[in-house]
Amino acid sequence: MLDDVRNSTAVASASAAVQEPTETPALEPTRRGEATREFEAFLHSRIVGQDAAIEAVTEVYQTFLVGMNPPDRPVANLLFLGPTGSGKTYVVEVVAEALFGNRHAFLKIDCAEFQEHHEIAKLIGSPPGYIGHSQTPPLLTQEALSRWHTDKTKLTLLLFDEIEKASETLWQLLLGILDKASLTLGDNSHVDLSQCMIFLTSNLGATEMSGLVEGGIGFAAHPVVADASLDEKIARTALEAARRKFAPEFMNRLDKTVVFNTLRPEQLEQILDLELAKVQQRITGAAGRAHFTFRCTPEAKQWLLKEGTDPKYGARHLKRVIERNIVYALANLVATVQVAAGDLVNVSLGTGGLVFTKAPPLRDTGSVAD
Ligand SMILES: Nc1ncnc2c1ncn2[C@@H]1O[C@H](COP(=O)(O)OP(=O)(O)OP(=O)(O)O)[C@@H](O)[C@H]1O
Ligand SMILES: [Mg+2]
Repeated sequence: MLDDVRNSTAVASASAAVQEPTETPALEPTRRGEATREFEAFLHSRIVGQDAAIEAVTEVYQTFLVGMNPPDRPVANLLFLGPTGSGKTYVVEVVAEALFGNRHAFLKIDCAEFQEHHEIAKLIGSPPGYIGHSQTPPLLTQEALSRWHTDKTKLTLLLFDEIEKASETLWQLLLGILDKASLTLGDNSHVDLSQCMIFLTSNLGATEMSGLVEGGIGFAAHPVVADASLDEKIARTALEAARRKFAPEFMNRLDKTVVFNTLRPEQLEQILDLELAKVQQRITGAAGRAHFTFRCTPEAKQWLLKEGTDPKYGARHLKRVIERNIVYALANLVATVQVAAGDLVNVSLGTGGLVFTKAPPLRDTGSVAD
């Protein structure tokens, strides 16, 4: 066997020697396959300002697609750190949408729900003979992991959210999963997690981070641009907090740690457009309801942005402001038949806030379903 290896090495170096004089064009090891490029483009179309996370997931996906992910380990173990509302959970949802056309197509374990030792039974089931053994179908079964598999994609997205809240028992279990991709259930059966892309999220260091953000971006009085140095400080804060809290054997099992950036005003502006488009999709997709169109003037958008910007809560606050000021108002207009199918609703800014008016119908309203 060893001889074979030596021989093949000798042949390889001999052929390398033969080929050296002729100019072989350099290969392009950073070029990606078409499916991966499409995947990456989809992520970019949905996720704003978190390129490091997109890059990490894309690299892993490319490796998985050609079957070169490490054997007997999960496809990847990725830790997402960073401020609240910056897109950590959202990235997993978008990956699910890209792979399975459904943003819920992943298995999520809320670590906060397993803080007590006995609660681990919800995850792995309890041993036979224990009270409630048969009533507690565990969350982490082989079947649950393959629930979203398709003929094309046998990959499971597994998310452990808020890992800093996990109990010691869950930690031990997690360490095994991250290292060996295997888990023993209460009934002694084995679960194979080698087809799992594992995401772990935490907003450890959130208080320090929001201190930095508020001092960094500031409001009205001293608006300082959030720049690369702020991102660097945030990254350092998050990583230090993670190293303080998590044992080295955990950090060692991670393939990549990504610290999410605080969203900047121009990024929130892009997210506003994405979120308004999602509201429009809700209207168009709502079965049996009025399929109308709405549009916001630039001034109305600026107002929403101003109301929706709170560096402490990231994009989550912006979404709430859209919900309260646009969705609720439109829902009332529909319920009272002030707006009906085919209408075009204009949202502008008046002296006391947003003003809703009906614009003349769009030329192509014929295509809008009744
Ligand atoms: N980078 C982003 N690009 C586009 N939309 C975003 C982004 N970040 C957040 N959002 C929007 O804000 C919502 C909340 O973000 P998300 O739940 O991912 O926050 P998080 O980082 O997981 O926060 P937490 O640490 O509190 O769990 C998302 O559902 C999404 O609609
Ligand atoms: Mg989250």
